[in-house]
Amino acid sequence: MTELPGAEPFRIKMVEPVRLTTRDERETRIAKAGYNLFSLDSQDVYIDLLTDSGTGAMSDSQWAGLMLGDEAYAGSRNYHNLAAAVRDVMGFPYVLPTHQGRAAEHLLFTTLVGDGQLVPNNMHFDTTKAHVEHRRATALNFVTVRGLDPEARDPFKGNLDLQALARFLEEEGKGRVPLLMATLTCNSNGGQPVSLENLRGLRAIADRHGLPVFIDAARFAENAYFIRTREPGQAHRSVADIAREIFSYADGCTMSAKKDCLVNIGGFLAMRDPCLYEQAVVWGVLFEGFPTYGGLAGRDLEAMARGLREVVDDQYLDYRIGQVAYLADKLRQAGVPMVEPPGGHAVYLDARRFLPHLPSRQLPGQALAVELYLEGGVRGVEIGSVLTGRDPSTGENVEPQLELVRLTIPRRTYTHRHMDYVAAAVGAVFARRGSVRGLRFTHEPPVLRHFTARFERV
Ligand code: F0G
Repeated sequence: MTELPGAEPFRIKMVEPVRLTTRDERETRIAKAGYNLFSLDSQDVYIDLLTDSGTGAMSDSQWAGLMLGDEAYAGSRNYHNLAAAVRDVMGFPYVLPTHQGRAAEHLLFTTLVGDGQLVPNNMHFDTTKAHVEHRRATALNFVTVRGLDPEARDPFKGNLDLQALARFLEEEGKGRVPLLMATLTCNSNGGQPVSLENLRGLRAIADRHGLPVFIDAARFAENAYFIRTREPGQAHRSVADIAREIFSYADGCTMSAKKDCLVNIGGFLAMRDPCLYEQAVVWGVLFEGFPTYGGLAGRDLEAMARGLREVVDDQYLDYRIGQVAYLADKLRQAGVPMVEPPGGHAVYLDARRFLPHLPSRQLPGQALAVELYLEGGVRGVEIGSVLTGRDPSTGENVEPQLELVRLTIPRRTYTHRHMDYVAAAVGAVFARRGSVRGLRFTHEPPVLRHFTARFERV
């Protein structure tokens, strides 16, 4: 029997028009935006790959769920539906809804982390690091060395270096670590997964030191899919089954529901320990709202509950990860340098190898992102020198380990034909790469400079 190509496991019943601008229009728009893609209006973007966060399409069931919102201040039925979904999919008995993922980090770290403490993770997402630092603690990354090599084709480049972590806990970290974390998938180095074996090892280390393990679960289903397809002995299992095993090694999780709950806004903090829950509730009431709504409407909770059950569907994930791989295949055929293997939510272009004639100070990642917009109205995001910023103690620019442009694919939003278009736009810039000019700052805000900085061409 011939194998049929996989196609989208959904059909479309509502469309949102997008408009392709002319090259001249884009020149004007990007100059007006100070060559910062965050300052563009979305109507001036044709294919928006800035983020996969809150940009996906909800299902008919999720939209129907919105109409069942119970907007009671306390004890809405949608909260109970969410709690049941978290229990079934993740196995955690306690859940505190939050308005998005970083709010769950805020509650967790306010509860567990204090002055001078150290928090190990494979790699902290920016907001996670910022929230650790907000508690006057230090965020430490323990991803393996190969995880930071854009050309290493290891299957689990999100894995923690467990030996280094164990050593650290015996030495500098002794008595100073309140919890261990793992981010699934590891967004900061390309959406790379963590293996079950690595998580089991992390649990063993945590047990030896009596520490809780929390998972940043933003893209847990994509991680579980990679385990199914890449880890020996896992191919026969469902993603749902693997996800339950992942969470069995953890004491709780922070969740940005804008990713793997398939909603446009929402998050939660989930856990096993009732005492920890009681403590976190106090902060939840202060920062987010009553513990059964946590900064969200009842209808949002319902959409989140339904999305959490939908996301562990194997056919959905075949399509989801397949679409990212499809774009990566096209780019690879064109010889475009990128982080290999591609992650679950995005393709990360390697700007250093793409534009080798531009030194770091000419911001090759930002220059490449601008060029992709000019070429085809495609908006990616720089994850390199601009994002990394300056060392707060010395004021010097920090040279990032990787200089990347992330082409992030929203969930269930664009077709494979859109991916063909994106690949053609990247290919066209690659063909004229030698003529791409660098950028320099004309306005540099002191914190989180990437959002509001302005640039000019060198
Ligand atoms: N953890 C990870 C791994 C993330 O990627 C994000 C957000 C968060 C936590 C914070 O969640 O945005 O709901 O507050 N990542 C987005 C991105 C913004 O574009 O990668 P949030």
